[in-house]
Parts: sequence; structure tokens; C-alpha cells
Amino acid sequence: MEDSTNFSEATEILYQGEDYSQHLKPEASPIYMTTAFNMGDLDDVQQTYDKKGYTYIRTRNPNRRSLGELISFLEKGKNTLICSSGMAAITTTYFALLAPGDHFLANENIYGETFDAINIFLKKMHVDVDFVDFSDLDAVKKAIRSNTRIVYTEVASNPTDRLADISALADIAHTKNALMMVDNTFTTPIGIKPLALGADIVISSLTKFMNGHSDALLGSITVKDEKIFDIIHSVRMLTGTSGSPFAAWLVYRGIHTLDLRVRKQMKNAALLAAALAKHPKILHVNHPSLDNFPQKELAKKLFKDKYTMTGMLSFEMPDDPSKINCFMNRLHLAHYAPTLGGIRTTLSHPLHSSHHHVPKDELKKMGISYGLMRISVGIEEADDLIADFTQALSVFSD
Ligand SMILES: Cc1ncc(COP(=O)(O)O)c(C=O)c1O
Repeated sequence: MEDSTNFSEATEILYQGEDYSQHLKPEASPIYMTTAFNMGDLDDVQQTYDKKGYTYIRTRNPNRRSLGELISFLEKGKNTLICSSGMAAITTTYFALLAPGDHFLANENIYGETFDAINIFLKKMHVDVDFVDFSDLDAVKKAIRSNTRIVYTEVASNPTDRLADISALADIAHTKNALMMVDNTFTTPIGIKPLALGADIVISSLTKFMNGHSDALLGSITVKDEKIFDIIHSVRMLTGTSGSPFAAWLVYRGIHTLDLRVRKQMKNAALLAAALAKHPKILHVNHPSLDNFPQKELAKKLFKDKYTMTGMLSFEMPDDPSKINCFMNRLHLAHYAPTLGGIRTTLSHPLHSSHHHVPKDELKKMGISYGLMRISVGIEEADDLIADFTQALSVFSD
């Protein structure tokens, strides 16, 4: 307000400086840190609601919308909902689409907290749950039922990169009219576009590779079908799992360099995996680019080439706790961090983090031992990473 002299200072303090009349065209996207948008008279209010415009922050926000449109483009989806975390994206989808009496079929190799959410919430909702090894398609065919509503998997499992054949699984799901839901966090739309392979819903923890800077918590749900979008949208609104504008702004900024970052991370992971596989003290390396990877043919089917698969790998050292500690202390570049997908290389120990609650015999089946370390590869130069891991691994020869 420019020229108002009629109101008291206590009132003017709320209005001075406000000028939304100019149609600015900022080069970078602004943050809409507002819980609501002003409307004029009741006709304007009605029109805003009718055209699904901006009203209240929990329902819609421009930063979430920009980010959602960009992710829909990358994932080849129709619409994307931005949620407060990857877990919010997963649970909001479950709450929206599942009802008592439905059957839910999941890959047994999935992120530990997704596994917990399924066991705790879906069982409470009287949804029947089955976990099957999705690398065995016959087992999936046997387990699917006429009341299966969702078939759920990650593309590459945590921490051993076991792959799921998305198009074959989507075909199986569709024989029973079930929805194929895929978590693309480890692979990103740079590695694979599950919706183009037949999946119906793709979720992602944007906290990881999509943002890439380890400074925001957010998740996305991308769908092809407008009706499914509307159902999930209203559940997100009612459960309040919408992402914050600031986090959406950060991820929108981070995602502009996704192509540059993630291609380098994926190539670095393949190069580091190959170097570790040759190291005499390493017992085993898990990365789909390696010649001895058990699902080599499936890796070729899913990904464009060996440098465009995933930035995640894991490797097994001898089960010697004090040497493993020495190895970790000797690393200059990679630091321990219970996250992944950032521009700096990080490591985590599945037995102390994602898989600490998994029973011993299950761990064996999953290929997880005390000596297994998970690496999220960053954008450092590959030769520097290889040199640093190699010098730190010399503790096993000391
Ligand atoms: C594969 C996968 N999906 C989902 C999640 C949950 O994401 P968030 O931590 O953003 O809730 C994670 C977290 O590590 C993950 O690794």
C-alpha cells in the first residue's frame, strides 16, 4: 500500500511494502511461503475452488506444483503429488487405495521401514499381506489373487541391488486388475521409467538422488490415471502429508542438475564396483554392472547401459569389527551417513541401520553379513574414490 495515511501504525505494519501488482518474471523460481491465498468476493472464492486453484497450503501450493509437473515429465506420468517424505508418499498411497479384505503383494527385498509400514498399518487395516521373492516370477504368479489390489516393489533392492523385472511384474499384476506400484528411489527416472514399462504408480523418496544435496525431506507419487490421482490427492489433504513449500523449492532447485549428477554417480558406481571387485580383500561386490551379477540379463533388459543403472552398490569385507572400524577411519572422502543419493559419497552399515531388526536367517537369504557395507556414490572423480577406498582397504593387509 503506497499512500495510506488513514490507519494506525499497528495496522499499517501488516500492509506496508506489499506489492503484488507487478508481473515480475524472476529467472529463478520464488518460494511461496504462504499458508493461504487471498480471494476477492464470493464469486471469486467459488471460481477458485471450481478451477482447483490455490486456496490453502495443505491442498495446493505453487512450489509443490512446479516440482510435481517436472517429476511427471521425467517419469512420463500424468500427475504427481508431492508429500512430506518418501514414507509419506508410500503410506498415503496405501491409505488411499487399500480397503479391508484387499490383498497386497510385496517383494520381500524392500526398504526396512516400508516393510514395517506394511506390516503395521496394512495388517491393522485388515489388508492381507504376502511377501514373495520377486526375482521368482512363478512365485509371484502363484501368490497373486483375484482380490490383489497392489503389487509392490523397488527396482533395485537395498542394499544388494537385486532387480525386479518391472514389465513382467506389471503384466502379472494386470491379469488380476491389480495396480503395479514401484519405488524408483535407487534408480531414478534417469535409470528407468517404470510407468513406461507398464507400472501404474511410481513413488520416490525425493530426499535422495532426486534432490541430491542432502538438505531436504520430501517424497513423490506419480500416476497415469486422473481418477487415482484424485483419490490420493484427497487422502493426502486429509492426512496432512503434503510437502512443505520450502522443501519443494529446494528439491525443485536440486532436480535441475539431476541429469548431470546422477549420470556421474551411476558411472562412478560402476567404476568403483569394478575396482572393488578386483581387490584381493573384498569378498563380494553387488552392482548390476558387474559381469558376475546374478541377474545380468535382467540388468541389460532394464537399463540402457552399465553406466546408467544405479549409484548404489554394496561390498562385503571380512567379518572383522576392529578392521572394519579402521577401514572407516582411514577413508578420507566417504563418510558414514544414514541416507543416500547425495553429491558426496557416503557409506552405511545395513546391520546397524536399515536391516538391524531383520532375523539372522532372513539376513542370510538377503546376502547381508556383518562385513557388508553399502555405498552411495557421489560426484567426486572416480579415480579419487578408487584410490581412497583402496588405501583404506589396506587395513585388511596390515
Ligand atoms: C528405497 C527407499 N524408499 C523410501 C524411503 C523413505 O524415504 P524418506 O526417508 O524420504 O521418507 C527410503 C529411505 O531411505 C528408501 O531408501
